[in-house]
Amino acid sequence: MPTKIIIDTDPGQDDAVAILLALASPDEIELLGITAVAGNVPLSRTSTNARKVLELAGRPDIPVHAGCMRPMLRKPRTAEYVHGPTGLNGPDLPEPKMPLGKAHGVDWIIETLMAHPAGTITLCTLGPLTNVGMALVKAPAIAERIGRIVMMAGAYFEVGNVTPAAEFNVYVDPEAADVVMRSGVPITILPLDVTHQVLSTRDRIQKLRMLGNRTGRAVAEMLTFSEAFDLKKYGWTGAPLHDPNVIAWLLAPELYNGREINVSTETVSALTLGMTVADWWGVTDRPKNALFLRDVDAKGFYALLTERLARLP
Ligand code: BDR
Ligand code: CA
Repeated sequence: MPTKIIIDTDPGQDDAVAILLALASPDEIELLGITAVAGNVPLSRTSTNARKVLELAGRPDIPVHAGCMRPMLRKPRTAEYVHGPTGLNGPDLPEPKMPLGKAHGVDWIIETLMAHPAGTITLCTLGPLTNVGMALVKAPAIAERIGRIVMMAGAYFEVGNVTPAAEFNVYVDPEAADVVMRSGVPITILPLDVTHQVLSTRDRIQKLRMLGNRTGRAVAEMLTFSEAFDLKKYGWTGAPLHDPNVIAWLLAPELYNGREINVSTETVSALTLGMTVADWWGVTDRPKNALFLRDVDAKGFYALLTERLARLP
């Protein structure tokens, strides 16, 4: 039986690749729907981009619901400087024909969890945690219904990417991240410590371009665009590929290594706001609340991604 998942996302080229990887893996993953959140670009863009990606994969049957327009307490912070003005610059994808779902994304998450047996749905979060945090605040009973939350969020040994201490998804809405981290739901974290090992080198992008399908071409164009900023920033042979690790961990957890530890979110300090403080050595008595992954077999990851994306139109 495939694992039922909801993807909460702010596409974003790397979010798009994560969605495509899930759609390419129907034996293991059943995507119930997508909720869009403000993050890389405003909500109007992320909710449009999610639908563009579904149509690219020939799956307009999967619902997309727009969630929160801004973080719980703070002003929105976007990243057009990485993802381009649309959030999905690179390929020329048509405007989506499929409509947005009528329900608010937060309500749809709650309704969907309550309509399924407890523990059967995995929430995959690829953006700021606003929608999931709000759902937990609005309907705390959902905590017992969620099987697991698998998130691309945070950083520890690798330090931050938007401030010296914080990773983008947590920095944008640290209060929401704090609610989720304290929720008691089983959590898996794919932090920058992992995603900075998963570099989309020229050679890996070229393999995707040559798959012979429109998805491979579009993904190559997306990554070529979104890489530009990071290549300059880090000076590596490829840019990190973040969000698809969430789906890859579901598909092939043996590619990853980590520890069950306590991870707490900084919500007060101006200097380290949004830092995910990971008690890697167990030096506090704070309860373990997350599987914090630290290493990945990057070759295995790209082999999986390339093989799976070849299955799409
Ligand atoms: C995260 O921030 C976004 O720009 C990416 O889509 C990813 O979710 C990496 O820090
Ligand atoms: Ca994202």
